[in-house]
Amino acid sequence: MDTAQNYNYRVVKQFAIMTVVWGVVGMLVGVIIAAQLAFPALNFDIPWLTYGRLRPLHTNAVIFAFGGSALFATSYYVVQRTSQVRLFSDALASFTFWGWQLVIVLAAITLPMGFTSGKEYAELEWPIDILIALVWVSYAVVFFGTLIKRKVSHIYVANWFYGAFILTVALLHIVNSAAMPASLTKSYSAYTGVQDAMIQWWYGHNAVGFFLTAGFLGMMYYFIPKQAERPVYSYRLSIVHFWALIFTYMWAGPHHLHYTALPDWTQSLGMVFSLILLAPSWGGMINGIMTLSGAWHKLRNDPILKFLIVSLSFYGMSTFEGPMMSIKTVNALSHYTDWTVGHVHSGALGWVGLISMGSIYYLLPRLSGKKEMWSMRLVEVHFWTATIGIVLYIAAMWIAGVMQGLMWRAVNDDGTLTYSFVESVKATYPYYVVRMVGGLLYLAGMLMMAYNTFKTVVDSKPADTRIPLLGAHA
Ligand code: HEM
Ligand code: HEM
Repeated sequence: MDTAQNYNYRVVKQFAIMTVVWGVVGMLVGVIIAAQLAFPALNFDIPWLTYGRLRPLHTNAVIFAFGGSALFATSYYVVQRTSQVRLFSDALASFTFWGWQLVIVLAAITLPMGFTSGKEYAELEWPIDILIALVWVSYAVVFFGTLIKRKVSHIYVANWFYGAFILTVALLHIVNSAAMPASLTKSYSAYTGVQDAMIQWWYGHNAVGFFLTAGFLGMMYYFIPKQAERPVYSYRLSIVHFWALIFTYMWAGPHHLHYTALPDWTQSLGMVFSLILLAPSWGGMINGIMTLSGAWHKLRNDPILKFLIVSLSFYGMSTFEGPMMSIKTVNALSHYTDWTVGHVHSGALGWVGLISMGSIYYLLPRLSGKKEMWSMRLVEVHFWTATIGIVLYIAAMWIAGVMQGLMWRAVNDDGTLTYSFVESVKATYPYYVVRMVGGLLYLAGMLMMAYNTFKTVVDSKPADTRIPLLGAHA
């Protein structure tokens, strides 16, 4: 029977609430490091507040704590609803929740202390890596176990994406983290030289493809049709772009290593696969956006739908920009500049952030026995604050990035460099300040979400009902 008692909503709610908590923490650290880039004195000469230690804390907190909790929450909800069965094991699901929170707390302690393996997005040292592997394998058992005991013969497409994300992240994490421990807090990679770089960016790029993309596409395929009260635009397209996406992503990693010691043909192969990647990425975006056909008017009144649909516009934008940046001649300009950081955050703030927020706004009232969020007006204000913040952030980084690239390559008639490096740093200063303001707005939106979440989970009365909510069915 399709009643709430038959589902494990407890673990979904735990992860949903922690998504909001870690969102606030991770973005706060983002704003702090953005401020440090403009005003370096803000590290107060305290080692654990220095940029080099807080930067990985930021990336780990936003990707794995905020993004990861959103993925756990939504995948556990979606797999139960679409399979019409309770999670495979409540105890194991609970272990994934507490295990994942422990990983995050350990990261928040060890990274500022300076313990790191030095691999981007895989900085945590080996004992934590082992814990991650244990949690992740348990996650796979819970997720696939639930699918196996499903009551409907069909496996809904959202689960395909979640399933691919879970399996691939297990593979990436275990292979890339292979290391020889030297002590409890220090280890050395099992790979050396250029192989180490290649494996790291095979991991790094597929972390983008599977952690920051495939799982969130799973969210898109469930929450957009639900909130829009419309079936997915094309089921066939969803299957075609699924297989094309997961096949193509695997080969694109070398675009992170253009003009390095990596063999030239490998770089070109990475570039070609990155260009091909535009097609399946846009297939997903089009499928999501077109789900609204005939229901566009709903966007006017429904702030949750705004989050979900605008996130897809950013997804389309960053997956157009990425293939362009992977062209070697373009990368010769963009690499090492803030253009990359602009690209990252149009994907991270625009796509990953907004789709997570929209999905969690959908979930929270349903998990708390409420009709809607405490204040839908605040959801609307959050949407606009976040969107303005993103535009400021990415526009500032694009301008700064192209400017830096052009300044670094400018030469005088006699062959000497026109600008010293420090001149380019000075010229970037105003853009760093604008980025910080954009980040502050984005963080302010997240704080509104935290307040709204608290009031929804704890309070019983809605703050206002002036914005009519369409599609608020359970
Ligand atoms: C308030 C919001 C945020 C602010 C102010 C912010 C700020 C920053 C800053 C200053 C950096 C370092 C850039 C550099 O090294 O030059 C950074 C890096 C990064 N951030 Fe954020 N961030 C925010 C939110 C997010 C979110 C939500 C995500 C992911 C979901 C994210 C993912 C990343 C990643 C992956 C990097 C590394 C980029 C690279 O290596 O090129 N950030 N962020
Ligand atoms: C078709 C899809 C995409 C392609 C082909 C692509 C391509 C690229 C390229 C060429 C770079 C610059 C590498 C460099 O010069 O160092 C890059 C960096 C990056 N992209 Fe994308 N991108 C895509 C989509 C996305 C999306 C959707 C996100 C986020 C949700 C994202 C996150 C990142 C991150 C985090 C980095 C920085 C990695 C680092 O250096 O630390 N990308 N991407």
